[in-house]
Amino acid sequence: MAAFQHQSVLLADTLAVLTPQDGEVYCDCTLGGGGHTEALLLAAPTCRVIGIDRDLEALAAAKARLERFGERVTLVHGAFGDVAELLAQAGQPKVHGLLADLGVSSWQLDSAQRGFSFSRPGPLDMRMDPSRGATALELIASLSADALANVIFELGEERHSRRIARAILRALAEGRLATTTDLAAVIAAEVPAAEQRRSKIHAATRTFQALRIAVNAELDQLQRLLTGFPDLLVAGGRCAIISFHSLEDRLVKQRFRDLAFASSLPPAFAAQEGERAAAVCELVTRKAIVAHDEEIAANPRARSARLRATRRTDAPNLPAQASFHR
Ligand SMILES: C[S@@+](CC[C@H](N)C(=O)[O-])C[C@H]1O[C@@H](n2cnc3c(N)ncnc32)[C@H](O)[C@@H]1O
Repeated sequence: MAAFQHQSVLLADTLAVLTPQDGEVYCDCTLGGGGHTEALLLAAPTCRVIGIDRDLEALAAAKARLERFGERVTLVHGAFGDVAELLAQAGQPKVHGLLADLGVSSWQLDSAQRGFSFSRPGPLDMRMDPSRGATALELIASLSADALANVIFELGEERHSRRIARAILRALAEGRLATTTDLAAVIAAEVPAAEQRRSKIHAATRTFQALRIAVNAELDQLQRLLTGFPDLLVAGGRCAIISFHSLEDRLVKQRFRDLAFASSLPPAFAAQEGERAAAVCELVTRKAIVAHDEEIAANPRARSARLRATRRTDAPNLPAQASFHR
């Protein structure tokens, strides 16, 4: 395995919204290389972290990085859509903080054999957990042209989705679709050359992103996390989510707002809203926190990062609103 390379985004801001304290327990739903977890462990020298990842290779890299923290770290292989069950199995049904840094790591993107990269040939896989589920190639082969176009349009916001979908299925039928670079070439041939010259991103970026999100059911995973997280937090516990896609950020923003609104209603109305009065939150970030120019210059991936946080309200008067001057 190549050395794990991934620069954690919005590290200081994440600590500022989660406010880790000694003796507390955190759940890092997207452990990756362990960058955010390491920062939490260093910030509060007796806190503990349960780190979840779907990717066994990421868990192995995090294990090596976090070895020195011994029993303060528990590693769990699984998907954060199942976080309630995973925490219960780890003997920690409630935590002081939950963190999700969504999407894939730079290391996953850059590992050709994982199939996320359009610049190096690899199998059309794209699964974060290669032990289960359909690969990108299997997904493509299972879809009609219309269904594939919808995936590419909705999850990739690609306006040439219809012709790209038709070209992909044609290439598949003609046996020209074996690798990620085959797919990238098929896509690039459908995007007008002038548009490609003007664009800062590769012509295949949006379609690859759409397929990755579909293969890993990323929006479904996020919905499940957003539905269940308040019940996993102790009183005053915080949830922070970093998203990289407008669809994800919209889901996070809406759910955090709905919970904050429900918490400001009298209990009878809160119940009508479908929220139990005990499981509502208030916003820690009113606007999404974004990276400073220096962070973006050092780590271009930070450009699209949006951090939002919320806090369970049924707690003694803890300060919720972190102060950010952006
Ligand atoms: C952006 S990286 C996290 C990087 C990490 N915060 C760090 O600082 O090193 C996202 C990680 O989350 C994992 N992941 C994404 N979706 C997941 C899900 N639904 N369940 C569990 N892990 C997931 C990916 O496999 C990847 O390792």
